[in-house]
Amino acid sequence: MARHLLCLSSFSREEILELIELAIEYKRLRKRGIRFTRELEGKTVAMIFEKPSTRTRASFAVAVYEMGGQPFVYSREELQLGRGEPVKDTARTLSRYHDAIAARVFRHESLEEMAAFSSVPVINLLSDKAHPLQALADYMTILEKLGRIEGVKLAFVGDGTDNVFRSLAVAGLKLGVEVRVASPPRYAPDRGELERLAGEVRGCLKVFEDPVEAVRGADVVYTDVFVSMGQESERGERLKAFLPRYRVTKSLLEEAGKGAIFMHCLPARRGEEVDDDVIESGASVVFDQAENRLHTSKAVLRFLLVDTVCS
Ligand code: CP
Ligand code: NVA
Repeated sequence: MARHLLCLSSFSREEILELIELAIEYKRLRKRGIRFTRELEGKTVAMIFEKPSTRTRASFAVAVYEMGGQPFVYSREELQLGRGEPVKDTARTLSRYHDAIAARVFRHESLEEMAAFSSVPVINLLSDKAHPLQALADYMTILEKLGRIEGVKLAFVGDGTDNVFRSLAVAGLKLGVEVRVASPPRYAPDRGELERLAGEVRGCLKVFEDPVEAVRGADVVYTDVFVSMGQESERGERLKAFLPRYRVTKSLLEEAGKGAIFMHCLPARRGEEVDDDVIESGASVVFDQAENRLHTSKAVLRFLLVDTVCS
């Protein structure tokens, strides 16, 4: 059976750290001018998108290419999937051609169905529930910037049910991070679910309503959009719940610890979840996060397609 990456819950703390180390090695090689490796020579990867993407689409496709493989990018509408062909039939068909299937989907259950019927690894490129590739790049960035992951205080301000936050929390709990989240009660995270997903809980999850309390003394201040893809019809009620209290402003950032960094998975909506002078400030590492998506994607491809022996 192939190994998949739908959620970091299925990866141990050691495996996550191994992926980050591998990504750091790929980055080092690329900085020395060694962009092309041959681990995926002769292999093809299907990339399916039900929603738009800039970073994930570009970084993952370039990762496959630089490793010697060939990415094939399909939008949902280009496939019979868009006309109602079942996910399970799509998965069984594409896995006869490709060596992996990577997909960005509206419903996490679609990925679970794909994985259940695919004979090759299925990789989550973002679902409503998780964005594991983003969390890997983010913890790599934290390690680079702060020199450690364990013991770091990460304060997420905004939607506690957000896909990016959920993956940060699951990985953070495994890695020994103090994960704090400030959100309106209606958008508070399901602590029990996140702890169950993390399984091995070395860190802790602290839930706040007040963003100032959550950010006080933090090493990392993180936010994401208040209206994720697929939630457009809730835009009015969401903005009413989050604004202006949960926007990351310069004065909120000043509550964080000395040398704190600002993170955002991007794309950002300046003036909604974050002010322009925060995202453009010296504390902001958002483009390092974006760059690290390339190196961590290579690590995941190597781990799932080269190093993992299927049973
Ligand atoms: N962070 C991220 O996944 O960005 P895209 O939606 O542009 O892929
Ligand atoms: N929460 C955002 C993340 C985009 C990368 C969304 O799902 O739209």
